[in-house]
Amino acid sequence: MQTNQAFQKVQPLIAPGPELPRHIVSASQFTPELLKHVFNLAKEIEEFWAVCHGRLLSSEKELYDYKEEFLERHGVRGRKMFIVFYEASTRTRASFAAAWDFLGGQIPFYTENAKVFSSAAKGETLEDTIRVLASYGPDVIVLRHDENGAAKRASSAISCYDVSIISAGDGSDEHPTQALLDLYTIHHYIRNVEGISIAFMGDVARSRTIRSLAMMLAKYPGVRMYFCAPKITAMDDDLRIKLRAANVEFYEQENNWESLISDKVVNVLYQTRLQEERFKDASQKEEAMRLQPRYTITPEIGRLMNEKRVLLMHPLPRVNEIHLACDLFETSIYFSQAQLGLFVRMALLSAMLRNRRK
Ligand code: NCD
Repeated sequence: MQTNQAFQKVQPLIAPGPELPRHIVSASQFTPELLKHVFNLAKEIEEFWAVCHGRLLSSEKELYDYKEEFLERHGVRGRKMFIVFYEASTRTRASFAAAWDFLGGQIPFYTENAKVFSSAAKGETLEDTIRVLASYGPDVIVLRHDENGAAKRASSAISCYDVSIISAGDGSDEHPTQALLDLYTIHHYIRNVEGISIAFMGDVARSRTIRSLAMMLAKYPGVRMYFCAPKITAMDDDLRIKLRAANVEFYEQENNWESLISDKVVNVLYQTRLQEERFKDASQKEEAMRLQPRYTITPEIGRLMNEKRVLLMHPLPRVNEIHLACDLFETSIYFSQAQLGLFVRMALLSAMLRNRRK
């Protein structure tokens, strides 16, 4: 059969790596193999960033050539991202936008308050909104929503389009890319994730960041988890069931969590704020707020963590659950954690689009 040469031309696939899922809606989609791939790329991007921002190359021409070569391999030129946020955000929204921009992509549609500024205000369903947006040709839609399961619903609504949904957090359920950056941070500081012990503290019930990171860590052998919270913000049964199913060794600790630091039981303490906006019952919220000071990182605890070399992480925003004086300690790594998120989001975006034809 005669074939037209022009139609035989296919775009070469660059540097094979494990295939990333089309949509990112849950931390449990990431295997250690996929994580390794994304983290290796993030490391490369970190170096690229340092060269570009540190003026490490001697001439403008050298820098230009270096950037061109890098973006040829890892960039997303000509690709489009839509950013659709129904809930407040600073870091996630800004880092996705900055990551995409740094890789050379475009952001033709951006709504930071979709509840007010999209047709949701007129009663349109999420599915209808996303279906229409997908038909306008983006490669990626980054979606944050206040309802659990929203990202999965959005991805099912656009199965006929060549568009990826990336969850930027849905309700109290999941925040997969935050887990990615949290794990990258642990990897960055501790190297080997296998066998680490981590304490999760604060609003364990409503923190999607805790749920996603716990599920991601559950993929590694020997990881021990301690969930430190009063009963009112203790973990939900569904996370308990998931962790048991994954054979994770975990403990729930209401009191005396300080001993996890003084006895150096944990390598990391992951603090979270009370998710005040997610309480349905005002009296429960009041009770949680009353108990919250018992789960605060004071300057004394921060100093102890520094002495014992226990890393203090937080997805941010911080309210009052870590005292400002703790920022000075070397083991308080939450701002570095936020910046590492930029590199890991670049790596994720680059890896997701790498093998996709335009
Ligand atoms: C978190 C979130 O939105 O779930 N923030 C973030 O994305 N870095 C944590 C929070 O809001 O408490």
